[in-house]
Amino acid sequence: DPPLRDLAAAKGVYIGNAVAGGKLSGNAQYAALAGGQFNSLTPENAMKWGSVEATRGSFNWAEADQIVAFAQAHNQQVRGHTLVWHSQNPSWLTNGGFGATELRGILQQHIATEVGRYQGKIYAWDVLNELFNEDGTFRSSPWYGTLGAGFVADSLTWAHQADPAAKLYINDYNVEGLGTKSDALYNLVRSLKAQGAPIDGVGFQAHFVLGQVPSTLQANLQRFADLGVDVAVTELDVRMQTPATEAKLAQQATDYGTVVKACLAVARCKGVTGWDISDADSWVPDVFSGYGAATLYDQNYQPKPAVRAVVTALGGT
Ligand code: G3I
Repeated sequence: DPPLRDLAAAKGVYIGNAVAGGKLSGNAQYAALAGGQFNSLTPENAMKWGSVEATRGSFNWAEADQIVAFAQAHNQQVRGHTLVWHSQNPSWLTNGGFGATELRGILQQHIATEVGRYQGKIYAWDVLNELFNEDGTFRSSPWYGTLGAGFVADSLTWAHQADPAAKLYINDYNVEGLGTKSDALYNLVRSLKAQGAPIDGVGFQAHFVLGQVPSTLQANLQRFADLGVDVAVTELDVRMQTPATEAKLAQQATDYGTVVKACLAVARCKGVTGWDISDADSWVPDVFSGYGAATLYDQNYQPKPAVRAVVTALGGT
């Protein structure tokens, strides 16, 4: 098969994946797939606050720099992930007991520092990640609790100041189909647009369970696009109870194909990013006991039936 990235480019979308720096340098099969099959990379963990500033004022950009350099060497875009999240924050921040004025300054400086460092090198930033609870209320976080909902527009504004060309996204999960949580995100994006906040896109993580791609995926992507923002599938995987069987892998192929076709059917859908290169790299078994086999490539970095389905969905033969 031709590389996925070539097929995607011919359709005017990108196809991406999430990567870790240690594996790009330490695992030749992983690096060959990451560089050869995909034209967009998302650092899986390297750009999170807890990774870059574990100790206050002491920065570690090594892995993030490495991934950006790898992407440039392989003519790939980078999706920056993620600036403002309730999780994977450094303990000095979580336990700091900061008041609103100080916390706001810390957040502004974090965004200015990180976005500024990679200015011109990041196609899109997941500025805000996982803002909502399942019932559509704002998730409790240091940001919401201390700063109130204004941190959302402020974060976008600060990111825009630091890199006016980067596309600024809000990213979430369980918002892929129509529903309560998706409605909450929709209303937020509509209100940000109405206020003139610099919101460019919405990322749909798409951590799916086998056979459960929402039937309203395309319609939901389209309604967000109709608000005047780009959309993207940002963290696609399809988990199943292990062990995988031929029948489950066939259903998984259908599911991957459905997602890629939904993106292609929506003019403002910019691309699809998978979450982890192979089943050997996936976060799924660590978090969902008994589940796995969620990615495009198996434990030995061999293509699974889902690769064929993505090729076909992208117009390959
Ligand atoms: O690096 C340490 C290592 O030194 C230590 O020995 C080991 C022991 O637990 O932990 C390692 O850190 C882990 C890190 O991944 C790197 O492997 C963390 O414990 C672990 O929590 C972390 O998990 C990441 C998770 O985000 C954190 O919430 C996953 O790799 C990453 O795939 C996952 O990605 C998220 C997206 O950012 C947001 N959407 C959901 C998605 C899946 O959870």
